[in-house]
Amino acid sequence: MPEIVHDPDRMRALIVEARAAGRRVGFVPTMGALHAGHASLVARAAAGCDDVAVSIFVNPTQFGPQEDFARYPRTLSADAVVLEPHGVRWIYAPEVAAVYPPGDTTRIVVGGPAVPLEGERRPGHFDGVATVVCKLFLTVPADAAYFGAKDWQQTLVVRRMVRDLGLPIEIVVCPTVREADGLAMSSRNAYLSAGDRLRAVALSESLRQAEQLWIAGAAPTAIEQTMRDTMERHGIVVDYAVLADPESLDPLTDHAIRAVALVAGRLGSTRLIDNRELCGRGASAADNTPEPGPAPEQGQAR
Ligand code: PAF
Repeated sequence: MPEIVHDPDRMRALIVEARAAGRRVGFVPTMGALHAGHASLVARAAAGCDDVAVSIFVNPTQFGPQEDFARYPRTLSADAVVLEPHGVRWIYAPEVAAVYPPGDTTRIVVGGPAVPLEGERRPGHFDGVATVVCKLFLTVPADAAYFGAKDWQQTLVVRRMVRDLGLPIEIVVCPTVREADGLAMSSRNAYLSAGDRLRAVALSESLRQAEQLWIAGAAPTAIEQTMRDTMERHGIVVDYAVLADPESLDPLTDHAIRAVALVAGRLGSTRLIDNRELCGRGASAADNTPEPGPAPEQGQAR
């Protein structure tokens, strides 16, 4: 079983010791409630590193006042069982007070790719993500950290922060893992009623349609309308359904070489997001890059 470490000083010492012994350490930050998507990040880390650390911490600063912080699933023992077969060496599971000491007032404020979409709808969310990820990188000073392309905007924000602050860690972005019907794996899928779970497939379906229309040369506005219609037909309350530049997230108004389609919507009280990188116009889907995700900054791997 992985060793569960609660104390940040001990966690840092273990990582420093492993790296001093010449071991390459991979780090997978999570909020727990682990599923096959997390397992794929861990597998990728294990394939490229000697030791893997996984953090499990439900970060209060990335939840808005009306969001699901209180009900977010906390399943540490079950998570440890999920991680065991992957050879994870450490689980870092700090208390909130160890990450945010009483009276703390320091935050990282992010701009650029953090501003539109999730940034507009969830004020402060990415400041909370950047702050906790930076704190985690200081406590788990690994060689590389692994994030899922499902949270496309988050990967852009983390990569920008790493570049801007000169943090000495490689960011690796791994493909989204999907259920058999296409629904992107997410800890929040567990909130869905049976009926909403069936309807939720419309998010990935709308992205699949977007790719087909993109390849066929349809205009971005027409593609966005189709995505929206598909989601609404399945009873999803659409937050956004857009095409954007994959790096800046600027809206796409016309032809472009690269694009990403991003959707967010609500089923009951559950809010889900998903995205798909669109391959070049006139190309077949099979020509698409096998490894979706924002292009790495110079000197960073995917
Ligand atoms: O993607 C997540 O699970 C969280 O946003 C992260 C990166 C672990 C920060 O709390």
